[in-house]
Amino acid sequence: MHQKVRGTRTRAWLIAAIVGLGLVLGGCAENAPQTTLKPEGKWANRIDELWRWPYWISVVVFFIVEGLILYAFWRFRRRGDHDAPKQIHGNFKLEVGLTALPLIILLGLAVPTVGTLLDLAKKPTGNEVTIEVIGHQWWWEYRYDNGVRTANELVFPVGTDVELELHSADVIHSYWIPKLNGKRDVIPGRLQLLKIRTEKEGYFFGQCVEFCGDSHAYMRNRARAVSKADFAKWLDDQQQAAPVPSDDTSPAGIGHGLFTTKGCSGCHTIKGVSQGRIGPDLTHLQSRDTFAGSIFKMNEVNLAAWLRDPPGEKPGSKMPNLKLSEDEIHNLVAYLETLK
Ligand code: CUA
Repeated sequence: MHQKVRGTRTRAWLIAAIVGLGLVLGGCAENAPQTTLKPEGKWANRIDELWRWPYWISVVVFFIVEGLILYAFWRFRRRGDHDAPKQIHGNFKLEVGLTALPLIILLGLAVPTVGTLLDLAKKPTGNEVTIEVIGHQWWWEYRYDNGVRTANELVFPVGTDVELELHSADVIHSYWIPKLNGKRDVIPGRLQLLKIRTEKEGYFFGQCVEFCGDSHAYMRNRARAVSKADFAKWLDDQQQAAPVPSDDTSPAGIGHGLFTTKGCSGCHTIKGVSQGRIGPDLTHLQSRDTFAGSIFKMNEVNLAAWLRDPPGEKPGSKMPNLKLSEDEIHNLVAYLETLK
């Protein structure tokens, strides 16, 4: 019995030590694309500035309080049976002081916090771009003003106030690209707003941060900031319909036929081919670097593996296993490869 308790305790300590070590080592990561500590957007910067100085105040308070506790341990340690220290309960001045001091500190924190929250909630002004963001189990849909729809990879212009209008097609998700702004819950039946702005071209990575079912952890997203000219060109390209393979007997041509006969068209839009709305718009699939909640690199091997068994690749996937033959997979991938 005694042995067993000791064994359980040892194991608990071991687990605590491993978790603690993991957290500490995690803080040393060089390649941490989702760190909040290196903001690269206007609003993420605001949040970063807000917490930095309260952090140092907290550090100071921490050492003062812990120091006083240690001092009290030492100063009032028990030396004999009759050496209880002088009691100070009911000391009016002390009580008022100990109430007023935290009040002042908390007010000092509240004023800039509320100010920042109000600023973050304000609608962006100036040359703004509005993009609709829809959370699905388990991928992100983006809709642009001109009817362009894409998935998982947000493309937006630098040096522009971008407003995201978030809503959900099913359950509660949460949208977060740490380098650009804080989190925003994505709630069915409710429109939530989030603004982003960066001056830096490049990729910013994010992740759904509200547990939303089987593949919550596979619900990633990435944002790509491009120059204003590139953004205009991208929007233009995305508006074009997909090319229809000229040769019906080529793998792509056969794949194009299978896309309709196998039922893909019921769920996916390919402009000029189909209007399904359940899954991502595939018209310009190859213009994206990743697919399926941004968890797979876009290439033939991964697309084939995906078509072979979607729920096997991403648990709970709404796209069923269509029991396609290897020939069918080959031809479908050939067709998907033409969707530039
Ligand atoms: Cu969507 Cu978690």
